[in-house]
Amino acid sequence: MSRNILVTSALPYANGPIHLGHLVEYLQSDIWVRFQKLRGHACLYLCASDAHGTPIMLKARELEIEPEELVERYRAEHRRDFSAFGIRFDNFHSTHSKENQGLVEQIYSKLDAAGLISRRTIRQAFDAEAGMFLPDRFVRGSCPYCGASDQYGDSCEACGRTYAPADLVEPRSVLTNTTPIQRESEHYFFQLGRYEQSLRSWTRSGVVDKGVAKKLDEWFDAGLQDWDISRDAPYFGFRIPNTADKYFYVWLDAPIGYIASLANLAASKQEISVDDYFAADSSRELYHFIGKDIAYFHTLFWPAVLEAAGYRKPTGVFVHGFLTVNGEKMSKSRGTFVAAETYFKHLDPEYLRYYYACKLGSGLDDIDLNTDDFVSRVNADLVGKFVNIASRCAGFITRQFAGALADSLDDPGLYAEFVAAGESIANAYEKREFSRAMRSIMRLADRANQYIDEHKPWVLAKDPGTADKVQAVCTQGLNLFRVIATYLKPVLPRVVGDAEAFLSSGPLTWDSPAEPLLGHQIDSFSPLLSRCEEKSVRQMIDDSKPAPAEAKTSADSNDANAVINLDQFLEVDLRVATVTAAELVAGADKLLRVQVDLGNEQRNVFAGIRSAYDPEQLVGRQVILVANLAPRKMRFGVSEGMLLAAGPGGKDIYLLSPDAGAKNGMRVR
Ligand code: MSP
Ligand code: ZN
Repeated sequence: MSRNILVTSALPYANGPIHLGHLVEYLQSDIWVRFQKLRGHACLYLCASDAHGTPIMLKARELEIEPEELVERYRAEHRRDFSAFGIRFDNFHSTHSKENQGLVEQIYSKLDAAGLISRRTIRQAFDAEAGMFLPDRFVRGSCPYCGASDQYGDSCEACGRTYAPADLVEPRSVLTNTTPIQRESEHYFFQLGRYEQSLRSWTRSGVVDKGVAKKLDEWFDAGLQDWDISRDAPYFGFRIPNTADKYFYVWLDAPIGYIASLANLAASKQEISVDDYFAADSSRELYHFIGKDIAYFHTLFWPAVLEAAGYRKPTGVFVHGFLTVNGEKMSKSRGTFVAAETYFKHLDPEYLRYYYACKLGSGLDDIDLNTDDFVSRVNADLVGKFVNIASRCAGFITRQFAGALADSLDDPGLYAEFVAAGESIANAYEKREFSRAMRSIMRLADRANQYIDEHKPWVLAKDPGTADKVQAVCTQGLNLFRVIATYLKPVLPRVVGDAEAFLSSGPLTWDSPAEPLLGHQIDSFSPLLSRCEEKSVRQMIDDSKPAPAEAKTSADSNDANAVINLDQFLEVDLRVATVTAAELVAGADKLLRVQVDLGNEQRNVFAGIRSAYDPEQLVGRQVILVANLAPRKMRFGVSEGMLLAAGPGGKDIYLLSPDAGAKNGMRVR
């Protein structure tokens, strides 16, 4: 029976590049959607850019463009990245759209009419210099519990405790570095607590995995608080009707963006209607794929809002864990914070699709991309096992039999085993147990290679008397390959697409293996996938490391709190130096080439400070140089050190200098 399924992935914020962490989610959902489509189900896969909120507003200001333009730039970039990885949405809309605004206003007015919105005045951190209220993450200071310095306004990374920004010791606004004041303002709240019973029974009806259900129980036990859905101007979002300066909080309008994306698609597709999927009595399936960091929004706020507004609730919320690289959190300085674009400049996206599939289960566990394991797994499984089956058989068929397959299978029993395995593989895909599916499929690939090893077509081919046998064995081998290709099609759309072309029997569907390809003419074979080179992985990591000066000027929150001891600090050789020359670097819009005098030697340094300094300004001034940094080869030359500077980047970069009188070459400590 054919099902009607709607799948969404979380809407990526339109203020930064898609990276390998995001791709865990988009690849997981894309594979699942492709699987459903391959099985013949009607499945829509929707996404959009998440356009609103303070970080996007501020980033646009920094770039001196309108937030709308920033969003459209990233939306285009994200679509390009997704398509490079074979992630195929049926629609990719934006939350800053007329469809979304209409839906948000409609839903809000239903909640308000039902008496579910309360208004009350709260006190909040306000940056008087910037003229705006500060989200928790924009206030930093020392932890009120353990005293750790430079902590966020909502929680301490050192001791893990949570608190309000007002509790911080010596709080500072990250925007202006001034001390925030407390100011009052009226906020609008959604009364989440009213839905506790309904949410409890919904979460127990099997819509979430065990791990998530456990988390939800903790939240229920802690009690459901009213949810603040308004923000004061200045804010990039939709204005709340009948107010002058209040906006809907981004997290209210973001999930409504799922419906807006559908509405946008429905506008151009007669056969699709929003009601069919979202009406309270809809029997269609609705699934959201999300990361564990946003589970609260999707398993509490969102279903409550849906119910309150008279819509149906999701059939399932599928929550995945976070990506680590080589066992650690992604890190800019280690080069493991890899943008999708950097990846596909160096490596085939199909490698990553397969690798993630091998790692993914249905639970909340974090998944690790180990770069050595990545190379060996891809080469051993995809190149060594899967693609190899075809390359071992295709040549004989094209050269000796003009591309004609035999009329019957050499080993129908073995073929039947391959077909029979489909059931449990489908089951694993359906339950998002991709790693189990991949293991079963690779066992089949081993079995197919074993069959070829046993029959040795390359030996048979030397004896004209056994020509029929060669054709039979290779026909069997290619048919086994075709079954495996069918099972791998959700994971490897490009490779299997090429395989379909050379088998020349049209697109494979999940049921295709039922009929083997016999007495059939195949096309000429060209290699489907090349080996994954370790060198390319290394280059990708190198390319992901920040330019020398950037490492100090741009905040890398992952590493900011690492503790070092005195010896480690003293290993850094800091020296006073004077800039003797500085110039622009053709083709690098962030860099300046800076020549410095260290007293007894000259050094050449590429510094990422062009956005803040003109070269002429620099000549003659003293700076602090990291003198024992390993030289770094760049496109433009070798950088032999790094200049110390403070600030977040852009125009806000401040070079450090010693007081007057310091001599070049003096050690700094
Ligand atoms: N804009 C919100 C989602 C709104 S949905 C109505 C958001 N955006 S995000 O760009 O930060 O993240 C998009 C998705 O990628 C989220 O599901 C998030 O969990 C996931 N991931 C982001 N970084 C990740 C890893 N490092 N690892 C795995 N998934 C990660 O959240
Ligand atoms: Zn603390």
